[in-house]
Amino acid sequence: MADGKVTLATLAALKARGEKAVFITAYDYPTATFVDRAGVDMILVGDSAAMTMLGLPNTLGIGMEEMLMFVRAVCRGARRAFVVGDLPFLSYQPSDEAAVRNAGAFMAAGCDAVKCEGGRRVAPRVRAMTDAGIAVMGHLGLTPQSLAQLGGYRVQGKTLDAVRRIADDALALEDAGAFAVLLEAMPAEAAALVADRLGILVYGIGAGPHLDGQLVISHDVLGNFVGEIRPRFVKRYAEVGRDIERATREYAADVRAGRFPASEHCYPLAPECDAEIRAARGSGAQASLPYAPALP
Ligand code: KIV
Repeated sequence: MADGKVTLATLAALKARGEKAVFITAYDYPTATFVDRAGVDMILVGDSAAMTMLGLPNTLGIGMEEMLMFVRAVCRGARRAFVVGDLPFLSYQPSDEAAVRNAGAFMAAGCDAVKCEGGRRVAPRVRAMTDAGIAVMGHLGLTPQSLAQLGGYRVQGKTLDAVRRIADDALALEDAGAFAVLLEAMPAEAAALVADRLGILVYGIGAGPHLDGQLVISHDVLGNFVGEIRPRFVKRYAEVGRDIERATREYAADVRAGRFPASEHCYPLAPECDAEIRAARGSGAQASLPYAPALP
């Protein structure tokens, strides 16, 4: 694990040493704080927030306003990790001007870089953003903002022709100044073939072990995604959703049984007012307060 704030130089040094970068999504202040403390190198404020945080069916329904709220919260929590803000659908596709303005808003909110989906067709936008001084990560393979064109959540790069097209897209992003490319949902050897053709950093999510680092969606590994999508590449490290449900059931049972709040959860009266307040409640008040604090 690298010391100090992670920068582009840190990421390049990790690659030079053959060390893998650890990359995870976060969308809120507590998660960003905890994953940062755990020593991740990079945090993606993904537009997957549409699904993980807002309960939408895909990533198309989230906009800049919602993303900026998530980005600001994560940037407050991430002290060390390199934060990448994920440009949402139609925030960069329409024009270079839109791309620079929206990427600029993410940078002003505290991001270290932005990510956008697509290859040759977004290369001019990547060039416009990098010319404006913004570090840009490309995203190829399964690109959820083009879900309808791809025909669903499907593994990409399964034929040599398809891998070559992805590699050409990746080269266009490199030429446009991207500092990294993220490959999603590709066979490991296909992703490695793309990476072999590039001089920039290549990260993967569901794209095998041969890349410069691994991204996971925090809800997938922590077990608090509400929904049925569970791709093959997900490894579960916790059951946060199940724990929330169990803890809440216990809390509800305690309230219903009168076990909560107990005396240790109640504020005592000031001794000088105690008798007066109890008297004001009238006789029988004690009987309805089974967990009243013990009086000195
Ligand atoms: O939004 C996101 O979390 C992403 C990953 C799925 C790559 O873009």
